[in-house]
Parts: sequence; C-alpha cells; structure tokens
Amino acid sequence: MLPKLMTSLPGPKAKAIIDRDDHVISPSYTRSYPLVAARGEGAIVEDPDGNRFLDFAAGIAVVATGHCHPKVVKAIQEQAAKLIHMSGTDFYYENMVQLAEKLAALVSTGGSLGVSGARRVYFGNSGTEAIEAAIKLARYHTGRGQFVAFVGAFHGRTMGSLALTASKSVQKKGFFPVMPGVHHMPYAYCYRCAYGKTPDSCGVECVQAIETELFRTTVPAQEVAAIFVEPIQGEGGYVVPPRKFFDELRKLADKHGILLAVDEVQCGMGRTGKMFASEHFGLQPDILALAKGIASGMPLGAMVARAELMTWKPGAHASTFGGNPVAVAASLATIELLEQELVANAERVGAHLMDQLRDLPQRIPIVGDVRGLGLMIGIELVRDQKTKERASDLRDKVVQMCFERGLLVLGAGPNTIRLCPPLVINQDQADFAAQTIEECLGLLK
Ligand SMILES: Cc1ncc(COP(=O)(O)O)c(C=O)c1O
Repeated sequence: MLPKLMTSLPGPKAKAIIDRDDHVISPSYTRSYPLVAARGEGAIVEDPDGNRFLDFAAGIAVVATGHCHPKVVKAIQEQAAKLIHMSGTDFYYENMVQLAEKLAALVSTGGSLGVSGARRVYFGNSGTEAIEAAIKLARYHTGRGQFVAFVGAFHGRTMGSLALTASKSVQKKGFFPVMPGVHHMPYAYCYRCAYGKTPDSCGVECVQAIETELFRTTVPAQEVAAIFVEPIQGEGGYVVPPRKFFDELRKLADKHGILLAVDEVQCGMGRTGKMFASEHFGLQPDILALAKGIASGMPLGAMVARAELMTWKPGAHASTFGGNPVAVAASLATIELLEQELVANAERVGAHLMDQLRDLPQRIPIVGDVRGLGLMIGIELVRDQKTKERASDLRDKVVQMCFERGLLVLGAGPNTIRLCPPLVINQDQADFAAQTIEECLGLLK
C-alpha cells in the first residue's frame, strides 16, 4: 500500500484534535508536523480525515512488526482476556520467565549475539528505565560511581539517563543538577572526526583519548563503573562507527575492569538487519539495554546482563509495571515474527533502499553523507559538501515536504533525516520513500 491524500493537511478533523491538544497536553513535546494518527496497518497510518501516510518513522523506531500486526494483536487480546497485571516485582507468572529465557538465549552462546555465559533480565517499561537499571546495576556491582558516555548520545530523559545523554542541550536546559559523575568523550563520528582523521589515517583516537586524556587528567579509570555506548547513535544522527572503535573500547573496558553497557534501545530488535546491532561489530556487551521495537508498541524495556553481575539483593531495584503480561505477550509475538521473517526483510529491503540513496551526495550537493545498516538509515544535509556546514533548516524543510507528500519521516541530530520504517515494508514502499526524498531534496538544492 502507498500513501493517498484526500484533504489539505491537516484536514478538518485532524485540526480539531490538534486545537484541543494545544490546550491540555504538555508543551514539552516536539511535534515536527501536524499528523494525527487514527489507525494503522503495516507501514500505513491513516488520519481522521481518511488521509493515508507511509510511515518511515514507526512511532520513533518502535513498531517493528508494523502497526497492529494481526499476530501481535491476537497475542495482546488473548493475554488481556487472561491476566492483565500481577506485578512481576512481587509475584511470578510464566510469560515473563519465557521472555527472559528468550532474550537470554538470543544474547548468549548459540543465540544471535553469541556471547558466552549466562544472562539475567530485568524488565521495565521504557528505554530510559532499562538505562536507569543499567546505571544502578553497574554502580552496585562495581562499587564505583563514575561513567563515560559519548557526545551525541541519547540514553533517555530521567535524571540518570539524562546525565548520560548529550545530543541536544535543550534536553538538559533547566534540569541541572542531573546525576553527577558522567564524562562525555567524542564518538566515532567519522564524517566529522573530532581528531581530524580520515578512515585511512584513523588510529581510533576517540578511544585512545579516553585513556590518554580523560583517565589521565579528569577521572581515574578505577573509579569508572561503566562506559555507555550506542552501537549506532540514534538521536545523535544515525551515526555508524567502524568496527575497530568497538574492538578498542572492549579492550579498554577489560583492561580497567569497567563494564560495557550497550544501548540498543533504538538500533536493536532486528532494525539493522541483525537481531542486535552489536552483531555487526562483534561487540560483546556486559549489559544490554533494549526497548522500543521489543514489543511492537506496547511499553516494555529490558536490561540483559551477565548473570554474575546481578549481585544485587531483593529490594535493590524493581518496577510495578515492568514486564507486564500484556506487553510481554506482545514481545514474544514480535520476536517470533522477527526471527521468522522480519530481520531478514530489514536486511533485504534496507539494502535495496540504501542502493538508491548511497550516491545521493554525487547527485545532490546538499547531501553530505548517507549511512546506516538495514532499515536504520540517516541522510545528513549540509550547506556545502566541503565545509560540511550543517543545514538544519533544510533538513526541517525536507521533513515537512515529505509529510505533505504522504511520507512520514523524522529528523535525528541537528541536520540528519532519519529513516526507521517498520520492518515489514516492501520494495515498492522503499522505492516510494527514496523517490519522494530525492524529489524534495532536488527542490531545495
Ligand atoms: C538509544 C536510546 N536509548 C534510550 C532511549 C530512551 O527511551 P525511552 O524514550 O523509551 O525512555 C532512546 C529513545 O529515543 C534511545 O534512542
């Protein structure tokens, strides 16, 4: 299915809802354009006026199996009729155990990530809760209080995860003091290398500097509990590092007894054409944070850690709703679909989409860089390919123009167009998106 627009946007019914929203909803939300969603099916979202959009935003990289996949809907309905809530904090129920077994198996030897050793799982309701759990476990287990994270990172908006976040300062403005003890270092953003290197001359200076600068001058390595890292920076602009970045980071962490906490909240659950993005880099996390795509839109987050790290005692950490039976049922159905077909589809259609976008910089001067893996693709816009001056206004315009043509995309970072469709999209839908984006870029160049 492809988009179909019946009214000017927003249509009258959508407009009436937006007017009401304006009076009662927190103004802290960032709405890029006036889309009101009434229903969804696969990669198509329909608004209350009957306009159909092709969704390349997926509820911010969440609806992995598409909107309202019949198997996910069935799993939710059946579970809701049996048991909606019990609280895994105080009681037992089987599907929570089943999902933990499944996630542990996917991460451990024989699973897709293939890391040795047993795993245990903590459930929350969101990405930020998975990260908060990781922060607390790392502190508890190591007895250390300091953290390293990266410039451009997004790990969430609660006071601990917000301290790790460094993608847009507006996210922190007015909220200090956040959790103390976080040190940000440049990420392996090779298009804009902080050390002026090219892929050929790169000696992974961004990891070296953690040792030679940060640990030497600012914080002793022995005080650092964990390094938090996204395998692909999401909100920071869909930035893909080279494999050697992770090799060096792993070595550095091991040398100093620091835990590697890998945030796959956005890039995990099949989005990159592998179940976990870490697989692309041979990256072995000590702690893995998951959310977003894990349950196709039901609120669920998970922190999967090496079993021997989970030394914390009853009462140390918990959540009333975390691992809710209905969200867990949605997750089990989601993972089954991912394993059966959707991870492979993300790889196949993602490669097809990338084939059409890869050489945009040769055709369109305002495109500086196109990068990504699977169905996680970023198109970075610049004013000039040589100076690489960021073209944030042009990016915002393209996002708006795509909406007006029935294609839903979001921005990431200051000047990147983010493509993160549901993993169910087909080649026709990928072609429509690529053509629409190129048309919009062409009008601005
Ligand atoms: C990599 C990453 N970590 C954590 C989060 C926070 O997730 P949530 O919004 O569910 O709290 C996000 C959200 O965008 C994210 O992209």
